Amino acid sequence: MPVITCIDDLKRIYRRRVPKMFYDYAESGSWTEQTFRENVTDFAEIRLRQRIAVDMTGRTTGAEMIGQKVAMPVALAPVGLTGMQNADGEIKAARAAAKFGVPFTLSTMSICSIEDVADNTDAPFWFQIYTLNDDDFNQRIINRAKAAGCSALVITVDLQLLGQRHKDLKNGLSAPPRFTIPTMLNLATKWAWGLEMLGTKRRFFGNIVGHVEGVDDPASLSSWTAQKFDQALDWDKIRKLMDMWGGKVILKGILDVEDAEKAAAIGADAIVVSNHGGRQLDGALSSIRMLPSIAAAVGGKTEVWMDGGVRSGQDVLKAVALGARGVMIGRAFVYGLGAMGEAGVTKALEVIHKELDASMALCGETKLSNVGRHNVLLRDGFLDSYR
Ligand code: GLV
Repeated sequence: MPVITCIDDLKRIYRRRVPKMFYDYAESGSWTEQTFRENVTDFAEIRLRQRIAVDMTGRTTGAEMIGQKVAMPVALAPVGLTGMQNADGEIKAARAAAKFGVPFTLSTMSICSIEDVADNTDAPFWFQIYTLNDDDFNQRIINRAKAAGCSALVITVDLQLLGQRHKDLKNGLSAPPRFTIPTMLNLATKWAWGLEMLGTKRRFFGNIVGHVEGVDDPASLSSWTAQKFDQALDWDKIRKLMDMWGGKVILKGILDVEDAEKAAAIGADAIVVSNHGGRQLDGALSSIRMLPSIAAAVGGKTEVWMDGGVRSGQDVLKAVALGARGVMIGRAFVYGLGAMGEAGVTKALEVIHKELDASMALCGETKLSNVGRHNVLLRDGFLDSYR
């Protein structure tokens, strides 16, 4: 096994190990992928300000996210199909997160069901739902998440319809999957992945199949989901979902100051400045570029987090410096999971933690609550170059 020192190392192993259709699923943005790319490249535009001769002993990356103590303010984002990246992937990722002391979010589109993850882990996790136009399904899945002891609800608010990802269509990644000849040939070369998959029963969307009338096979799931995304979504419906849950709520997928103000006004405990990892509106600005204005507008009323493009502890530090109280990582942990299962997720968290700790120290800070705009250097106009 090669020495792993950064998230890119995990990505290289992940790419070799996992079938192309699932690698591509994670590694895609919508349409031209401009927003997907800029989520990463815009982080590189931000520079950290080095300071010296500041006592860096006794420092901590510890923080709180919605009142929960965390080893660092980094939560695992909800990612669909995680259990196809590595057999029983959601359970493995949840265990790694709990041991590390950071939150794990289970996606509605997970392979392992809510109950299965709860039965196979010790710590409470967060649960993600979409804004679907089916009150009965919403109520039932929310009840299941409550019964499983989930400690917060993440509502994805930027998916009233699905942004087109060319690679998924070309790879036949649909429900049911279309097994094209290149896809089959590629699957055949991923024997280590395949053997593990053969060893688990968990190979389909565990939260949906068997829980929705008329959806008992892959074919019916595809038409069910297409009809369920709520194109008529409005803020009253978001509030209704929050009321159904009645506990801590995180609204994920906000990229505009006006929307952030509405989210704060209806009482979201946290919002995630996000463009869905560049998978929805291609041409939208990167999350890190949108973060400062949103944090300035509503940071006093709700916790402002971000996701999109975070691949290192330096990125976490930059996000905190620009006003985020926390970040979510998606691809960074999926690379680790696909590469090495639970140990790979732990590795990804260790890498990010070490980078965050060292970079914070080299910036002359000993705790994240003191990190701010003074820790970064920005080119003139970076914050207001788009209007
Ligand atoms: C679903 O939320 C996706 O981005 O694939």
